[in-house]
Amino acid sequence: MKSRKVYIQTIGCQMNVYDSGKMMESLVPVNCSPTDSLGEADIIIVNTCAIREKAVQKVHSFIGRLNSLKTKKENLRIIVAGCVAQQEGRALMNRFPHIDVVLGTHTVHRLPDMLEEVDHNGEPVIDIGMSESPVEFDAPKSQLQAQSDTNRFVTIMRGCDNYCTYCVVPYVRGRETSRRPGDILNEIQILTQSGIKEITLLGQNVNSYGIKEGWLTFPELLEMANRVVGLKRIRFVTSHPKDLSDDLIASFQRLDKLCNHIHLPVQSGSNRILEMMNRKYTRERYIEKVEKLRESAPDISITTDIIVGFPGERHEDFDMTLRLMETVRFDNLFVFEYSDSAITPSSRFPDKILQKSKNERLQEVLRLQKHISTEKDRLLVGQVFPILVEGPSKKELKSGALVNSSQKELTGRSSGNRIVNFSLKTDCMLDIDAMKGEIIDIRIDRVFSNSLQGSPVEKDFLKR
Ligand code: SAH
Ligand code: SF4
Ligand code: F3S
Repeated sequence: MKSRKVYIQTIGCQMNVYDSGKMMESLVPVNCSPTDSLGEADIIIVNTCAIREKAVQKVHSFIGRLNSLKTKKENLRIIVAGCVAQQEGRALMNRFPHIDVVLGTHTVHRLPDMLEEVDHNGEPVIDIGMSESPVEFDAPKSQLQAQSDTNRFVTIMRGCDNYCTYCVVPYVRGRETSRRPGDILNEIQILTQSGIKEITLLGQNVNSYGIKEGWLTFPELLEMANRVVGLKRIRFVTSHPKDLSDDLIASFQRLDKLCNHIHLPVQSGSNRILEMMNRKYTRERYIEKVEKLRESAPDISITTDIIVGFPGERHEDFDMTLRLMETVRFDNLFVFEYSDSAITPSSRFPDKILQKSKNERLQEVLRLQKHISTEKDRLLVGQVFPILVEGPSKKELKSGALVNSSQKELTGRSSGNRIVNFSLKTDCMLDIDAMKGEIIDIRIDRVFSNSLQGSPVEKDFLKR
């Protein structure tokens, strides 16, 4: 059979980015290769997210638009995966008859077989089965291509047992299950051997890694990753504040490869709302954890998620969220308007907040965070940070200046997860590719809203 081009549209969180990568890897042995062009594709995979109504609408409209491509190209295969596929299953197929395959969050590995089935029978195929037993996560592929990038996600667990009252994840991703430490280590080693320098360990609540199974604890798993030769940096998302242990807090000091950043979603600053959300911590307990983190790692960058307009959220509750932001002074945050989903308990809670108020509250959170970030950012100017170089900056790639100019602009990330761009004279630099994955000291010169601009610390650079 002639080789086929695969276009993957990934909507949603890092879990989906990881699964999309796995789906692509699994199709390579059956004569497929990736493409960035929708028009060129023979197979289109839509990996979907159900976390908020807007995400679901985006999924539906994207799938709807594919109908015209399918009419033009009879052999085009349309595959829908991820959380909307899991949630809607056959209803999705009924609504969009041009879909060929629907696969759920636990059946990602079945993609090549399901595709073969459609090719053979010409009938649509669906598999959204979920396994409740401890899963055998897919063994990593040993034929991984050499990596052109410097960082990759590694899933360490799937599902979630926390049942926050607003969240669809426990329903669409199933029970919390950890992946075997040996499989994780194996995957990290393969990635490192193929050139990856930084990994981000993924789970909805990494703090409860291995507890159910009685395996390593999460801090022990981090320690294991820290020993991998060639790996330079380790990150993780997401930590649930209720399970943030002293051991994990101490890891920031103990493990040299662990980045100085934690994403610790607080959701609300009001104890009344936290209780209704079933978050199982109070604002006082959250603040206590932040203080401990800062004692252990004084410069640690702390980011968070906030939901505004949860059912029943009064002005005084919202005010508690703003006051908490002032106390903690987050380095950055994501803020979301509460979104209803029929499968979550909160959809049946009374006192829904008007859209207009939700939007006003969202704007207020953004304004306050901007003020805090600007004050914090000012202090960064003149400081030196080790930056892991990721490659040419976006500006450099866009202008195509890479080939000619005597100055190259590169981009990388600080341990605190800030994007840092910096210029180099070409005579300092023999091969731009050789810089990728190196950690170099950069002094911050200017601050922009989404990135920092700096220059290499001269003496350090001339040593090279
Ligand atoms: N497991 C992570 C969160 C994963 S979902 C944790 O608990 O920390 C990512 C974020 O989406 C959440 O932190 C929350 O802020 C937001 N979110 C989830 N469900 C939502 C909903 N129904 N409406 C608005 N935001 C929501
Ligand atoms: Fe959703 Fe809560 Fe689980 Fe996070 S911890 S995925 S917010 S249920
Ligand atoms: Fe969305 Fe599913 Fe992730 S609902 S946020 S893609 S786990």
